[in-house]
Amino acid sequence: MILPNGSRPSNERSSPLDRHTTLRVGGPADELVFPETVEHVQDILQRAAVTATPWRVLGRGSNLVVADEGVRGIVIHTGLLRHIRFLGDGRVAAGAGLHTSVLFNEALKAGLGGLEALVGYPASVGGAARMNAGGAWGETGARVESVVAVAAGGEVVELDAEQCRFAYRGSALGGMVVAEVVFRLPEVVPHEYRERTHAIYRAKKGAQPLGMPSAGCMFKNPRRGMSAGRIIDECGLKGVARGGAMVSQLHGNFVVNRGGATCDDVLRLVDHVRWQVQRIQGISLELEVEVWGRDHVPTHA
Ligand code: FAD
Ligand code: EPU
Repeated sequence: MILPNGSRPSNERSSPLDRHTTLRVGGPADELVFPETVEHVQDILQRAAVTATPWRVLGRGSNLVVADEGVRGIVIHTGLLRHIRFLGDGRVAAGAGLHTSVLFNEALKAGLGGLEALVGYPASVGGAARMNAGGAWGETGARVESVVAVAAGGEVVELDAEQCRFAYRGSALGGMVVAEVVFRLPEVVPHEYRERTHAIYRAKKGAQPLGMPSAGCMFKNPRRGMSAGRIIDECGLKGVARGGAMVSQLHGNFVVNRGGATCDDVLRLVDHVRWQVQRIQGISLELEVEVWGRDHVPTHA
C-alpha cells in the first residue's frame, strides 16, 4: 500500500492523526491503512472481523475530534480511492476519497453542476455522503443516485438513494466503508453556475472562520431554522477559550484551533459551551462532530 504522497508506510503507528484532521488535533491510530481498491477494503475488513479488531473510516477528517492519545484498532484512510468516471446522462461515479472540490471542478468541465451544497468546506465524497453534508444550499444526498460500499464482514453492497436514508447530517452509511458514490447531476450554464457558487463561497467566507483550523460546526442545530451558532452567540460565548481551543469570534458554532490546541482543550470547551447554553437558554445541544477516543470502541450505530 502507498501513501497519498507516494511513499510506503513504515511504522504508521507513529503517525499522529492531527495531520489528517482539519482541526489539527489527535494522536496516532494503532494502524493507519490506505486502501487503493475495493478489494483492499474487503481484505482489511475481513482481517478485522477475524481478529475482532475495531476499525473506523477517515476521509478528509473535517468533522472529527480525535483523542490526544490516539485511537485503538485500524483507521481506514480513503485518500487513495479517488477515481472519477463519467457514465453519461449526467451520472458521475466518484471514489470515496476524492476531494469534493475535485468532483466539483471535473463535473463543471463536463458542463455538470448541482453541487452547490458542497461549496466552501473540505470533504471527501464518502464523508460528504455519510454525513449528508450541506446546509442552506442543499444536501449531498439529493444528488446521490447510488453508493457502493463494503459492509463490516467484507461484503460489497450497492445501495440506492432510498436505502442510504439521508437525513439532517446523517445517513445509513455509518457501519460500512463507502468506496464509490454515483451522482446524478444537472447540466448547467457554466458561467452562471460559477457566479452562483462564487456567491455562496463569499457568503460562507463572511460568516465562517474558513481560514482557521476547525471541524466546522461542533453542534447540530436544535431544529430547522434554529442556529446553534446564533444561540451560542446570544449566550455571549464567542471568544471563550480553553488552552488553544476558542469559540470563533465569527460564528458561535465553530471551535477554532488558535495554535497548539489539544483534544482535551476542545472537549473542555465543548462541555463548557453545552453547560452554559443549557443553563442560560435551557437548550440541550447535540454534537455534530464525531469524537474518536482511544477507549471508545465504535459501535457503527
Ligand atoms: P471525516 O471527517 O473524515 O469523517 C466524518 C464521518 O464520516 C466519520 O464518521 C467517518 O467515519 C465517516 N466517513 C468518512 N468517509 C467515509 C467513507 N468513505 N465511508 C463511510 N464513512 C465515512 N459540513 C456540512 O454539512 N455543511 C457545512 O457547511 C460544513 N462546513 C464546514 C466548514 C469547515 C471549515 C469545516 C472544517 C467543516 C465543515 N463541515 C460542514 C463539516 C465536514 O466538512 C463535513 O461533515 C464533511 O462531509 C466531512 O467529510 P470528511 O471526508 O472530512 O469526513
Ligand atoms: N448567527 C448569529 N451568530 C453566530 C452564527 C450565526 O447571529 O455566531 C445567525 C446568522 O447571522 C444567521 C443565522 O444565525 O442569521 C444562521 O446562521 P448561518 O447561516 O451561519 O447558519 P447556521 O444554521 O448557523 C448551518 C450549518 C452550517 C452551514 C450553514 C450555511 C448546522 C449545524 N450548521 O449553520 O454547516 O454551513 O448553515 O448553510 O447545520 C457544519 O455543519 O459544519 C456547518 C458549518
